[in-house]
Amino acid sequence: MGVIRSHVAGVGAYLPSRVVSNEDLAVRLDTSDAWIRERTGIRERRIAADGELTSDLALAAAQDALRAAQVRPASIDMIVLATATPDETFPATATTVQARLGMTRGFAFDVQAVCSGFVYALSVADNFIKAGQAKTCLVIGAETFSRILDWNDRTTAVLFGDGAGAVVLEAGTGQGSSADRGILSTHLFSDGRQHDLLYVDGGPSKTRTTGFLRMEGREVFRHAVVNLTEAIDTALQTNGVSADDIDWFVPHQANQRILDATARKAGVHPSRVVSTVAHHANTSAASVPLALATAVGDGRIKPGNLVLLEAMGGGFTWGSALIRW
Ligand code: UT7
Repeated sequence: MGVIRSHVAGVGAYLPSRVVSNEDLAVRLDTSDAWIRERTGIRERRIAADGELTSDLALAAAQDALRAAQVRPASIDMIVLATATPDETFPATATTVQARLGMTRGFAFDVQAVCSGFVYALSVADNFIKAGQAKTCLVIGAETFSRILDWNDRTTAVLFGDGAGAVVLEAGTGQGSSADRGILSTHLFSDGRQHDLLYVDGGPSKTRTTGFLRMEGREVFRHAVVNLTEAIDTALQTNGVSADDIDWFVPHQANQRILDATARKAGVHPSRVVSTVAHHANTSAASVPLALATAVGDGRIKPGNLVLLEAMGGGFTWGSALIRW
């Protein structure tokens, strides 16, 4: 039976030019390159320039993805932008990107699921395509987490970076089997009871300020491995495939130890794991599309490959997506 499938037509990325190493941070914080590398795998991160906004990063990644897909902005029906660091409280940063792409039709909105944002946005776009309400979608993950970090808190300041990634989705068809090209499934989860383990201590309604990121790292780590394993198992079972069938595992890039533990529990061989955490650190909603763009750009991900995405973040929120490239 023929079904609608969302095909990935192109992937793009953008990183701010300023590189901040662990040594740079150790100059002003009670930390060390050795501690950060051993505990997280992070070596460096990019930090946006003064005045460089989430929309600037998102626009550059979007243009890169549109070039790769050979799609003109005028063909886009919908932009979904995942971010926890919007330019302003409103309007949605997605509408700023829409205007700057020169789009005069379609619609654009933001999705807020913190580090799971890209998987959520991908799921939203996939469902709009499957419902027949959009044919060409731009899905972006873009963050300037440097703006919500407490730069005096060594337990969080060393973990995050800025960046953006994007994919263009186009409506296609398939047979309804796991051999189809395109997004085969998305699964989303959340548990609002875990608010206090990872949150920002400000917001327009609560404090009229932006606030700073607060995290109980050890607890988040523990939940992350359990939750991500659940999301991965659900994706594999739904599609009747096994971990051995996964060509590339593209996880959220929070900590190399979480990547390793999750891949091990899921049964994915380490050589199949795409890791960018050493150079990007945790870029929240941008991390999965940035890792995708890296592995597509260097030729690892090829047409026909089975690609498994997952992410977990504040809320808690978490999810997975299985894609036949
Ligand atoms: O994107 C989704 C959300 N984020 C995550 O998934 C992050 C999840 N958590 C983690 O990645 C890890 O828990 C961290 C990297 C945050 C921390 O690693 P850990 O192995 O869980 O360390 P810990 O929190 O147990 O801290 C160990 C020690 C503590 O000292 P004491 O109490 O043992 O004396 C910390 O104070 O390391 C200390 N510490 C640091 N030392 C040097 C914490 N941060 C630093 C630092 N430099 N930057």
